[in-house]
This record gives sequence, structure tokens and C-alpha cells, in this order.
Amino acid sequence: MEQYVISGGKSLAGEVTISGAKNAALGILAGAIICDDFVTIENLPDVNDTNILLEAIAAIGAVVDRVDRHTVRINGATIHTEMVDYDYIQKIRASYYLLGALLAKRGNATVAMPGGCDIGSRPIDQHLKGFRALGAKVTTENGFVHAQADHLRASHIFLDVVSVGATINIMLAAVMAEGQTIIENVAKEPHIVDVANFLNSLGANIKGAGTDVIRIRGVQKLHGNSYSIIPDQIEAGTFMCVAAATKGDVLLKNVIPKHLEAITAKLVEIGAEVNEYDDSVRVCCSRRPHASTVKTRVYPGFPTDMQPQMAALLMFGEGTSYINETIFENRFKYVAELRKMGANIKVEGSQMAVIEGIEKATAATLDTPDLRAGAALTIAALATEGRSVIRDIEYIERGYENFDEKLRALGASIEKTPVPAGRRKNKFA
Ligand code: UD1
Repeated sequence: MEQYVISGGKSLAGEVTISGAKNAALGILAGAIICDDFVTIENLPDVNDTNILLEAIAAIGAVVDRVDRHTVRINGATIHTEMVDYDYIQKIRASYYLLGALLAKRGNATVAMPGGCDIGSRPIDQHLKGFRALGAKVTTENGFVHAQADHLRASHIFLDVVSVGATINIMLAAVMAEGQTIIENVAKEPHIVDVANFLNSLGANIKGAGTDVIRIRGVQKLHGNSYSIIPDQIEAGTFMCVAAATKGDVLLKNVIPKHLEAITAKLVEIGAEVNEYDDSVRVCCSRRPHASTVKTRVYPGFPTDMQPQMAALLMFGEGTSYINETIFENRFKYVAELRKMGANIKVEGSQMAVIEGIEKATAATLDTPDLRAGAALTIAALATEGRSVIRDIEYIERGYENFDEKLRALGASIEKTPVPAGRRKNKFA
């Protein structure tokens, strides 16, 4: 087990290249197994979540050929089981995409219940409702979800809540269902559009991704192809907050500025300068941020996955900031950690954090409660003079590729060191 040791207080400057989108990659890797042909996926982020999913895909018999760190070839023709019980699969959220993909491919799937970060109750009722509407019989028993259908048929589905996971999962399941499936009240995040574009590149007929209604005309089969994943909106947003919090000047390369609009607007509002180019953005900031109000919303609103990082920045704001989390009910676990640094943050109920900005924090040893919270703690430590330690960084490495290396290249003093014996706890036990 490792930890970050950070000597903070330096302004970070330089260039950082953003990796492929983790959450798009998870849908795309699962979607690739539907095809009985080679599918090449490029710009794959090399993070623990995608690597666990790839191991699970290999464990059910698919060919998984890692061409290089960021490219993989997958062929689902050799899959020999619809039962996914790979050791750690329930630790990642995206295991549920194998339900949709195997249901489409084989009409049968048994997958360990999904895990992921503990940021709320995270039910999957909308996924299962979608599968049932397509004609599958779905049961949950002994920690597994089982879905079976002799023949998937198109349906008209209205999601009760806007869900990224349910939208992608139903899209995967319906890709070869007979007739036209219509899914209403869908999520519109960039990675939904990316998964739809990927499936279309394999011969699927999906229209409307990025709007409230997706229409899927079932096709007989998918064919092989090559596809490059979009850049990660949340990794980019995180580095934008790093630049602002450290009063730095950072050029982020390999981004789609349109996907960052909500984050850019917030940073400009609190006093950062953001310049957008074709596939890069530059963030500079030379002052303490103004206070602000942040309300998380589905895309194109402010992403919940950027809420902790923005709070870490507003912890140093001038005045009182309000963070209203509307998507998940347990996403303020980082607050107790930031308080160890002297942050003045109060959590009111499950949806509101009130931040009285402080000018300077004090270095501390912090425990990472979940992936994005870990990024937030790192931001706070980078902006604070003195030696901070961030423990449990395996959470951070689920979703950030080479986080410490990328920060070092911007001038940060951050080292990854083994956790001293006696301090270790087995999170995945
Ligand atoms: C995905 C992302 C996660 C991000 C979240 C919101 C992946 C692997 N994870 O998670 O990083 O924070 O989108 O952008 O892509 N809900 C239900 N029933 C369902 C499904 C969801 O009630 O069947 C609720 C959830 O409890 C939550 C809201 O809908 O309150 C949104 O969840 P959803 O968009 O599904 O999040 P995930 O797909 O789990």
C-alpha cells in the first residue's frame, strides 16, 4: 500500500496531457465483448478500474490483447461463460455493464452486484427495469444479478431518474434487440455520447445520444473496428482546480473544451483566467478565489464528480461558499479530512456544505474516503505549505493515471511512498 507525501505551497505551472475518459472506457470495454470480431480501443486510460474490467473480460474467455499501455484489442467470440465472478469485480461500479453486454450477446448474464465508491446508496433499479422492459427475466440473489431472455425485443422505456449507468447499460442490452427501442429521460454526459458513437462504429444504429431521448434500432450483429476514447472531463477538471488552487498556470492538452464548460464557468466566476483552444485549455490564477455557490447537476450542469475538488478550492475562498450536492447522498466524507487541515466547513444534512473560506491551511495526514475525495485532498495539500500525507491512494489510482507523475511534471513536490508497517489496513478484504 502506498501514500502520497506532498510538500505543498508551490505554484504549479507547465503542460499536462489528459488521459482517455475512464467512465467512457468502462462502457466501451464492456460493449466491445458484444462483437465476435476484433475491436481495437485506443486512448484507453491505464487506471485500476479499467484494468479490473479488462481482467474480468479476459476471465470469461474474451481475447484481451494489450497492444500498448493505451491500446487494447478485444474479441468476444471466445467467451465461454456468462457468469462474471472475478475476484474484485464487485469493487468496481462498471461491473454492471457486463450485464447489459452479455444479455445482448448471449441472452444470459450473471454478474456480482456492483460496488464502487461509497458515495450513496446507488441502486440499480433503473438498469433492471430497462432489462425487464426488453423482455429479460431479472433476479437478484446471493449478491448476484441474473438476467435471462430467450429473445430480446425493443421497448419504450422512461427512466424515473436520470442515470448515467442505466442509460449506457440499457443501450448495450438493446443494441441487437428486435425493433426500435426508445429510452426517455436519459443522461446526456459526454461519455454516453462516446459509448453510442463507439457502438455505432461497430454497426449499431443508435440515435439521439446527448439529448433526452435515445432511439436504438436493433441490428443483427456488430462488426470489428477501431475506436479512440474521448479525453477525461473529470481528470481535466481536477487539473483545472489544481492550477487555480496553487495560483498556477497550467495548459491542459487533449481535452474537449465544450465538455468542460460548467467547470470553466465556475472557475472564471471565482476569479481564474481560462483560455480555450481547439483541444486544450489554459488555466491561470494569481489570486485567492472568490466565494461561490456550486450545485451539482446532470450534464451539462456542474458534475458531481467535480464537487469535492471544487470544495477543496473554495476552502481557500474569500467569503462563504455553498456546495449543494443533488445527485448522491453521501458525498461529503472528505470534509472531516479537510477539517484536519483547518478548513472551516460545516455539513448541513446530506446535501449541503457551507464553507467559510480560510486564507491558509495547515499540513496534515489525511485518509482518502473515495476516488474524487482523494483528488480533493491532494489539491488541498498541494495548496498548503508544509508536509501533508494522503493515505489510501489506491482509491485515487482507480481513476487517475499517473496522478503523482503528472503533478511532479508541473513542479509539485509529491512522492509516492510505501505506507509504514502498522498503519496498513486491508481495504479490499
Ligand atoms: C456514474 C459514474 C460516476 C458519476 C455518476 C454521476 C461510472 C462508472 N460512474 O455513476 O462517476 O458520479 O455517474 O455522474 O460511470 N439511481 C437510481 N437508480 C438507478 C441508477 C441510479 O436511483 O438504477 C440514482 C443514483 O442513486 C444517483 C443518481 O441516480 O442518485 C445518478 O446515478 P448514476 O448516474 O446512475 O450514477 P452511476 O452510473 O452509478
